[in-house]
Amino acid sequence: MLKISIADNTNIDKVYALRNEVFVIEQQVDPTIERDERDKEATHIVATMDNLVVGCARLFWEDGAHIGRFAVAKEYRNKGVGRAICQYIIDLAKERNCHQVWLNAQLVSYDFYLKIGFTPVGDVFYEANMAHVKMVGALHPAMACK
Ligand SMILES: CC(C)(COP(=O)(O)OP(=O)(O)OC[C@H]1O[C@@H](n2cnc3c(N)ncnc32)[C@H](O)[C@@H]1OP(=O)(O)O)[C@@H](O)C(=O)NCCC(=O)NCCS
Repeated sequence: MLKISIADNTNIDKVYALRNEVFVIEQQVDPTIERDERDKEATHIVATMDNLVVGCARLFWEDGAHIGRFAVAKEYRNKGVGRAICQYIIDLAKERNCHQVWLNAQLVSYDFYLKIGFTPVGDVFYEANMAHVKMVGALHPAMACK
């Protein structure tokens, strides 16, 4: 069963291991960029299925809810895990009365975010040698992932 929660000491190392697998090994991001000082201040989200860590994201409470390091394990993609993590984040952000959720999306995942209800804002820019665009989801009471 898929379960989404705020990560704690029992699973944070598995979250970092998943990020390493997805961003460093799969996407060739420099490991010194992937793990950074901001991990200490982030709210980390973890998705587990049958006690296996299958997805993650981190949040900063700045200008609403700023989402980063959003990843689903390769063998668990296209099963609704990403959408479920996003819905969890939206619910969390609504509880905190955030006006928006937002992220800098890699262009390769642009269509995913568009599909679940985010809107692009501004120009394409480069981060960790990858093209990104800022995408925003406004939080009115009825907003849910599409
Ligand atoms: C992008 C990512 C998080 C999506 O997670 P996921 O669990 O596969 O997504 P879901 O299964 O919830 O998909 C929701 C919908 O979006 C679609 N979708 C998923 N990935 C997509 C993509 N890359 N492009 C277009 N559509 C996509 C799914 O088909 C699904 O549509 P449906 O409801 O019509 O079937 C995942 O592919 C991933 O971790 N990629 C590598 C890391 C990454 O790029 N992270 C983003 C950093 S900004």
